[in-house]
Amino acid sequence: MDPDSNDYMYIDAHCHLSAGEFNEDIGDVIERAKQVGVRAALVVAEHQGEFSRILELSQQYAGFIMPCLGIHPVQGDPTKEQRGVRHSDLEGAVEFIEAHSDELVAIGEVGLDFTPRFVKTDQEKQEQREVLIRQIELAKRLHLPLNVHSRSAGRPTISLLKEHGAEHVLLHAFDGKPSNAMLGVECGYYFSIPPSIVRSEQKQKLVKHLPLDRILLETDSPALAAEKQTRNEPKNISISCEYIAKIKNVSSEEVMRITAENALRLFPKLSQLIRR
Ligand SMILES: *[C@@H]1O[C@H](CO)[C@@H](O)[C@H](O)[C@H]1NC(C)=O
Ligand SMILES: *[C@@H]1O[C@H](CO)[C@@H](O)[C@H](O)[C@H]1NC(C)=O
Ligand SMILES: [Zn+2]
Repeated sequence: MDPDSNDYMYIDAHCHLSAGEFNEDIGDVIERAKQVGVRAALVVAEHQGEFSRILELSQQYAGFIMPCLGIHPVQGDPTKEQRGVRHSDLEGAVEFIEAHSDELVAIGEVGLDFTPRFVKTDQEKQEQREVLIRQIELAKRLHLPLNVHSRSAGRPTISLLKEHGAEHVLLHAFDGKPSNAMLGVECGYYFSIPPSIVRSEQKQKLVKHLPLDRILLETDSPALAAEKQTRNEPKNISISCEYIAKIKNVSSEEVMRITAENALRLFPKLSQLIRR
């Protein structure tokens, strides 16, 4: 395996390296990732409080950390009370993103989350939809792809993206049925698979149905580790790769090569940014 070859690299298409969990050892985490062949990590935001930190990290680890900014459908302190996103959460964010659009590889993490404990009323669902629509419009205006979350909202998310003309879309850790995912495939959308696939029958089914040329690898670090309740990190991306290889009955090198090609196609800025 030639470490300089673009055929053999991992791209982590969705992770949260600005999370507090990585404050102590971010440098080591990135070093360990590089050692297994991770060449880039798309680091997404959930709220405005992370925007500056993510841009700083992308400068400190230039050519490795690829920044994505957006407002997540669930807001609020995870240790206290979380709620659906509101229009007010987007205030100032759009202007910030527009001002820094040259530095970004995608808009995200955006999407819909209809988990009952976060969203109680139709009004709240509607507000999430409106916030997503505004960020789809933003992505189109800036010619950036979308890095998308959906939970208990697979079909509504794909429908809304399609209705509003989103063309360049990654659906990360999609939790819906394969039949709904295939609606996304018809629109040209891609799907990224985290290491938690080893313990998720739903994700295993999803991978069986998805064509390999629509699959990317992700870790969603620090979440969605293969081992429940452990902090995930980008070096664990090989777990996704190997599991997909098993399902598709191809070598893990093949999965690595095709998923990297898919990532470079969906996120065109990566080709210039990845250190050669
Ligand atoms: C992923 O990474 C962390 C840190 O190295 C580890 O604790 C975790 O258990 C790893 N592996 C799996 C199988 O999740
Ligand atoms: C997996 O691939 C190998 C070689 O390409 C082939 O011989 C084998 O029959 C395949 N197995 C399944 C279960 O499709
Ligand atoms: Zn995420």
